[in-house]
This record gives sequence, C-alpha cells and structure tokens, in this order.
Amino acid sequence: MHSPLLLLLLLLPLSATASPPPDHQSHFTNRHLNSTTTPPPQEYIEITRPLPFSSLTPTCTFPILTHTFANTINLPPTNTTYSPPHNCTWSRAALHISASSNGSQYDRIAAVWLAGAEILRTSTPEPTPEGIFWNVRKDVTKYSSLLRQSNLTLSVMLENIVNDVYTGVYHVNLTFLYYNDTKIVTRPFSRRSTAIIEENRGIRRRKLNLNKNSTDLNENPADLIIPISTIGDEGFWFRIERESDVVYQGIQIPLNTYRAVIEVYVSSHGNDEFWYSNPPDSYIEMNRLPTTRGHGAYREVLVKLDDNVVGSVIPIPVIFTGGINPLFWEPVVSIGAFDLPSYDIELTPFLGMLLDGKVHFFGLGVDGAISFWLVDANLHLWLDHKVDRVQAEAVKYSSPSTCVEREYKFQQLDGKFEIEGKRKSEFSGWVNSSAGNFTTYVTRKLKFENTIKFKNDGTEKNVEQEVKLTNEVKIKSSTGDLISTSKVETKYPLEMTTSTFPGSVKDTYLMKTKLEHSLKEEKSEGTFKSTLVNSQKSEGWMFVQDHDVLSGAASTDQSYSVEDSFGCYTRSVSVSSGNITNDTTGYLCASASPL
Ligand SMILES: *[C@@H]1O[C@H](CO)[C@@H](O)[C@H](O)[C@H]1NC(C)=O
Ligand SMILES: *[C@@H]1O[C@H](CO)[C@@H](O)[C@H](O)[C@H]1NC(C)=O
Ligand SMILES: *[C@@H]1O[C@H](CO)[C@@H](O)[C@H](O)[C@H]1NC(C)=O
Ligand SMILES: *[C@@H]1O[C@H](CO)[C@@H](O)[C@H](O)[C@H]1NC(C)=O
Ligand SMILES: *[C@@H]1O[C@H](CO)[C@@H](O)[C@H](O)[C@H]1NC(C)=O
Ligand SMILES: *[C@@H]1O[C@H](CO)[C@@H](O)[C@H](O)[C@H]1NC(C)=O
Ligand SMILES: *[C@@H]1O[C@H](CO)[C@@H](O)[C@H](O)[C@H]1NC(C)=O
Ligand SMILES: *[C@@H]1O[C@H](CO)[C@@H](O)[C@H](O)[C@H]1NC(C)=O
Ligand SMILES: *[C@@H]1O[C@H](CO)[C@@H](O)[C@H](O)[C@H]1NC(C)=O
Ligand SMILES: *[C@@H]1O[C@H](CO)[C@@H](O)[C@H](O)[C@H]1NC(C)=O
Ligand SMILES: *[C@@H]1O[C@H](CO)[C@@H](O)[C@H](O)[C@H]1NC(C)=O
Ligand SMILES: *[C@@H]1O[C@H](CO)[C@@H](O)[C@H](O)[C@H]1NC(C)=O
Repeated sequence: MHSPLLLLLLLLPLSATASPPPDHQSHFTNRHLNSTTTPPPQEYIEITRPLPFSSLTPTCTFPILTHTFANTINLPPTNTTYSPPHNCTWSRAALHISASSNGSQYDRIAAVWLAGAEILRTSTPEPTPEGIFWNVRKDVTKYSSLLRQSNLTLSVMLENIVNDVYTGVYHVNLTFLYYNDTKIVTRPFSRRSTAIIEENRGIRRRKLNLNKNSTDLNENPADLIIPISTIGDEGFWFRIERESDVVYQGIQIPLNTYRAVIEVYVSSHGNDEFWYSNPPDSYIEMNRLPTTRGHGAYREVLVKLDDNVVGSVIPIPVIFTGGINPLFWEPVVSIGAFDLPSYDIELTPFLGMLLDGKVHFFGLGVDGAISFWLVDANLHLWLDHKVDRVQAEAVKYSSPSTCVEREYKFQQLDGKFEIEGKRKSEFSGWVNSSAGNFTTYVTRKLKFENTIKFKNDGTEKNVEQEVKLTNEVKIKSSTGDLISTSKVETKYPLEMTTSTFPGSVKDTYLMKTKLEHSLKEEKSEGTFKSTLVNSQKSEGWMFVQDHDVLSGAASTDQSYSVEDSFGCYTRSVSVSSGNITNDTTGYLCASASPL
C-alpha cells in the first residue's frame, strides 16, 4: 500500500523482440556536452489559450508558497496556510505555478489542494542539465467559495527521488492572482484590437459579468465546496489499484442546496499509465511476456451515489513528458500535461435523494483498472440563502451499465484486439427553491472504440482510440418553459504506432514512434457557442537502454484553435528536436463567426 508514488517504471521492458507497451523513459541526451558555454535554461510550455482575463492587471497578488521538492519520496504533502488578501476586491482568481529544474529526472505527478479540495493536477517536465523552467496558469474562479475563507490549509504533493543518477530537484513557486473584472471591458483573446473584437465588445462585457445561469463552474461558482478526498500523508487523492476498489465518502449536504455538481480529478499511473495501449491478459499470458501492463484497453471512471452509478467518464489520455517518446515533449508538452482536465457531472437531478438530512455516500472507482489511478473529487453546491430548505424530487433515473464488446484475435505475438463501449444515461428531477420550481434534465452519452494491432512478431504496435462524450443539461420551469440549455460534446481521438528493433548491445533497443492525438470540444449554452480543436502530431525515433533515452530525434506539430461567439484564437507551433521552429498566433476566425 505504501509503495512509492512514482511514474518511473518498476520493471524492465519486454525483450527487444516484442514491442513493449509504452514505457516511461527518462532522457539523458547531452546535447551540449561539448560546448564551452552553457546555453540558457529553456522554457517548457503547454499550448493553450490565454486566460479570459489575462489582459487585466490583478488587483492583488499573493505569493503563497516557495518550495524545493528534492527527495520527497514517502513524505507527506507540503502545507502552508491560506487566507485571502486583505482589502481586495475580486471576482476572478488564477493560480500561477512557476517552476524550474536542472539535471536528470523522471516526470512527476503533482497536485495542489485547498482544505482538501483539489484545485490543480499537474505533471512536471523532465529537466535537462542546462536547466528548464515552466509556468502554469489556471482559472480557479470556480473555487471562489474556498478562496474567500481564511486559515485554510494549502497542500502540495510532488513525490520525487533524488540520488546520484536522478539529480533533478523541482523548484516551485505558487502564486494566487485576483482580478476585479466587472468594470473593465476586455477583449476575448487580448493583445491587439481587430475589427471583429471591437465589434463584439458589448457582448463580451455581458459574458464577463458572471452569468448566474451558466453551467460553467468558473462563470457561476458554487457557494460551498466539499472535498471527496482522503486525509493523509500520501496526499489527498485516493489510490485505486484494481477495478473492485471503490472509495466512498459520506456527506450530509445542506438542506437549502438547489444545485449540485461533482468535479472529478483523475490520472493513471504505473501499469495503467498507458491503459489505452494495454493488450488483454490472455495475450500476455499465452506469449509469456514479462509485462504487467495488461487487462485490455477499456477503463471507465465511475461516480456512485449510494451504490448507484450517477456519472462516468473515459478520461483523456494525458501523456506525461517521459511517455511514448520523451523527445516529443521538448519543449512543448503533451495536451493537458501541465493542467490535467477535471470532469464535471451534474447531480442536481439527485437532490431529491440527497436532501433528506441524512448522510449519503459518494463513491469513486475505475472500471477495468489495474494499479494505479489517483482520483478525488469536489462536490460543488449552490445554496438558496432565502430559505432553510428547498424541496426536491428525482423524476427519472436511467443508467444502464456500459455495454462493452470485445473481440480479440491473435496468434503468438501478432494480433488484433478490438473493444467498443457505449453508455447512455438520463436523469431528471425537480427542485423547488425560492427562485421557483425548476426541473433539470441531464443526458450523458459515452462512446468508446479502441483497436490495438500487433504485427511483425509483435515488434510493431498500432493503437487507435476514439472517445466521444456528450453531456446535455436542460432546465425547465414548472410551466414547461426552457430556462437554460447547455450541451458539450467532447472527442479525443488518439493514434499511435511504435516499432521496436533490437540494439547491438544487450538491453538496448531502437524504437520508432508516431503519435497523433487531439481534443475537440463543442459547447453551446443558450446562444453562446464555442469550438475548440487542439491537436498534436509527433514523429521520431529513440535509442533506449533500460529506461534511458540515449539518443534520438523527434518533431511535434501542434495546432490549437478556439472560436466562440466573441472571437477567435489560434496558435500553431512546430518543434524539431527540441527547438521551436515555428510559433504563429492569430486572432482571426477561419470562418465567419455566427453571431
Ligand atoms: C563531442 O566531441 C567529441 C570529440 O571531439 C566528438 O566525437 C563528438 O561527436 C562531440 N559530440 C557532440 C554532441 O558534438
Ligand atoms: C482596508 O479596508 C478598511 C475598511 O474598509 C480601511 O479602513 C483600510 O484603510 C483599508 N486598508 C487599505 C490598506 O486599503
Ligand atoms: C521563486 O520565487 C523566488 C523569490 O521571488 C525567486 O527568486 C525564484 O527565482 C522563483 N523561482 C521560480 C522557479 O520561479
Ligand atoms: C543545476 O543544479 C545544480 C545543483 O542544484 C547547481 O549547482 C547548478 O548551478 C545548476 N545549473 C544550472 C544551469 O542551473
Ligand atoms: C487561524 O488558525 C489559528 C490556529 O488554528 C488560530 O490561532 C487563528 O486565530 C486563526 N485565525 C483566524 C483569522 O481565524
Ligand atoms: C471593482 O469593480 C467594481 C465594480 O465595477 C468597482 O466598483 C470597484 O471600484 C472595483 N474595485 C477595484 C479595487 O478596482
Ligand atoms: C436565467 O434564469 C432565470 C430563472 O432563474 C430566467 O428567468 C432567465 O430568463 C434566465 N436568463 C437567461 C439569459 O437564460
Ligand atoms: C500536511 O497536511 C496533511 C493533512 O493535514 C498532513 O497529513 C500532512 O502530514 C501535512 N504535511 C506536513 C509536512 O506536515
Ligand atoms: C415550493 O412550491 C410551493 C408552491 O408549489 C411554494 O408555495 C413554496 O414556497 C415553494 N417552496 C420553496 C422552498 O420555495
Ligand atoms: C414542481 O414541478 C414538477 C414538475 O413540473 C411537479 O411535478 C412538482 O409537483 C412541482 N413541485 C412543487 C412543490 O410544486
Ligand atoms: C537547435 O538549436 C540549437 C541551438 O540553437 C542548435 O545548435 C541545433 O542545431 C538546433 N537543432 C535543430 C535540430 O535544429
Ligand atoms: C508557420 O506556421 C504558420 C501556421 O501554420 C504557417 O502559415 C507558416 O507558413 C509557417 N511558417 C513557416 C516559416 O513555416
């Protein structure tokens, strides 16, 4: 149980004849070994959009923690006390992490909790001898109800091992930034004004005023946040080792709650770090492969309420910087690596069950899991301050278990493994608060397809995965009028090919690697619409000994574009063997923005 929380692999890769499931590598290439002058430290980045209020000057800045995470293995999280800055007027808040490291080190998983509620999950890049640094900025407005309280414990967990070989320590600074955005008209994606942006100023202003009807937690923060996490020296996350592990927490919610959302944080590690590329156990057993990365490629994170499944998610495969080919992620890291997405599940239809004044059990588990997953959640609650209690009743509960079909065919090391899964859940319930009697209808759809192919005596492996999640929330008044509607459709396809060739020296191999993955999200909320497309395409090779990349070359092309009713932002970056060769930012929409 108390095994180290390491991303580094604890077993040797497969023999070089069979293509191993991807490993976690550390990178030892000494590019500048011969030069007399040391080049300056390089900045690592995750390509994303600027924060919606990034052009504003913060009204207050609170540097809360400076800490060096050296040999922190088996140590409890680092704590400090949080209280909001005095005399600060703010409506939005951001968390800024600034970090640096040099030497050799594996990537590490890390998280920040406030009063036991997770507010950021992140991972570190692998440093170089010359040094690297990076910055992560996250909109944390949704945690406002916590951020306005005094004397809370802020905790940061980053387990690291430092020895003669792995020398990299992580220097981390954490700062909260507070913004008062209600009076200033900002532009959608800052920098310069374009005709399109000027035109939309008026609308933009409305959007920036917190929209109380929005289902987006940052637009409409909850009044109360209750963490569903563990208390402990190993961090606040629960560790899921197998599919039968379900962790529960009993919570009694206030009787005047009129909306509830559970936000789930999740990351996969160890044998399940690359779960989407894990072959079934039968393949591993028949071929007597010395790997424990199996159990097929279907995982579903389940949220339970008193034993009923009330929501589920197939997480986006976030690839850490040592993953697949570490050379892919220098200096542009993989989608989500610095700010792992969390998943919101609307629980308002269940208030009828929850508002009976009794303790109810919220559970988290991972269907199909092998060791290990780190999960926790925050229960966001909105309270009716005008009454002591609201009435509610569940109307519909329909959540059939996920239908999963598997088709496995293989002969020795070659074969094809296909899995398809589907789930559709529908929930509804009414809540009669001082604002009126509203019925919330939630429809969640999940579709999943995964194919793993082995060729050339198992030395070539190809993984193709498609996941589509659709999440719809409709609110109707008792007269049947539609009050609000929101729909989010998320897709994250992934395709990966690795080919392994034995090296001339024992325990070495050459691997060719190719990866294409993306995150696509279409949102609509009333008349507001937005489309995000974020994709990365990487190709390269590496020469590996044990878990160390000795040499190699790689390139990554990333294209990020977000278009909404207010404007556009695009960024295209090309990276070749650690150098950014093209970085183009644009503010013009490819298509005319429908208003
Ligand atoms: C470093 O110098 C040695 C000897 O001069 C040379 O063989 C080697 O190729 C150089 N390595 C690099 C990365 O330039
Ligand atoms: C803080 O607010 C109090 C009360 O509003 C006021 O008296 C005081 O001058 C303010 N302090 C600063 C530093 O602005
Ligand atoms: C952290 O803050 C300290 C003090 O301001 C500064 O000297 C240091 O360079 C910062 N480190 C990083 C990694 O930002
Ligand atoms: C790297 O770290 C070592 C030890 O922490 C330090 O002595 C050295 O100056 C650092 N080098 C750079 C380039 O930051
Ligand atoms: C904060 O907590 C400490 C120790 O628990 C206590 O002494 C102090 O009075 C508290 N301060 C506030 C503002 O609540
Ligand atoms: C914050 O915004 C409000 C509303 O526009 C304004 O009245 C107030 O002066 C602002 N406060 C600060 C400190 O800028
Ligand atoms: C927001 O919700 C209220 C009811 O709570 C409704 O009257 C109003 O029309 C809604 N506004 C928008 C913009 O949807
Ligand atoms: C930080 O707080 C947590 C939760 O209270 C505790 O388990 C842990 O031991 C604390 N860390 C340190 C270094 O004291
Ligand atoms: C619930 O609805 C009834 C009318 O149907 C109303 O009289 C009552 O005040 C409502 N309750 C709350 C808590 O608002
Ligand atoms: C609220 O509305 C629902 C459906 O419109 C209805 O069935 C229920 O009785 C109403 N509740 C109250 C307290 O009026
Ligand atoms: C990357 O940049 C370094 C320093 O500018 C240069 O020496 C090296 O040749 C470049 N590598 C590639 C692949 O462009
Ligand atoms: C850089 O990328 C942009 C956007 O993809 C492209 O239009 C431009 O031609 C590229 N420039 C170079 C020098 O490749």
